[in-house]
Amino acid sequence: MFETWNDNLKIGVAKIDQQHQKLFNKVGTLLEKCTEQNELRQRSTIEELIDFLIDYFSKHFADEEKIQRIINYPNYEHHKEIHNNFKEKLVAIKKDFVEKNKTLKIIISLNHEILKLFSQHIKEEDKNIGDYITLIKNEQWQQMEEMISDIQTKK
Ligand SMILES: [Fe+2]
Repeated sequence: MFETWNDNLKIGVAKIDQQHQKLFNKVGTLLEKCTEQNELRQRSTIEELIDFLIDYFSKHFADEEKIQRIINYPNYEHHKEIHNNFKEKLVAIKKDFVEKNKTLKIIISLNHEILKLFSQHIKEEDKNIGDYITLIKNEQWQQMEEMISDIQTKK
């Protein structure tokens, strides 16, 4: 069995959470398609799904990086590097599947690896983005609270 979308994967930023959920579901569909019978019919569907993932992951990472630039996220460069490695892995899977004609068994295990890596990435890296946003909010609120308490003492 593989991990499906669950609340532990939410980072608290709606736009990112929605995209993560969509990606999780698509990787799940891909894994299901890989394990279905009738190999000939599947290969084109699987290729389409891999193409979708390459495209959507790339869009998602770009959005996530945009959000990080907006909030001046301190770990931006490192995070971007992880995204790039991830994209390269997906392209390698596609290449293996199409050019080297790798068996579905190998593709399935690679996809499991992708899903595991993605889940780890969300829990270990992307969650820090959510935490950083909370930190900014708290700091802003603290400043406001100080201003508010200043008004009170002037009275
Ligand atoms: Fe990320």
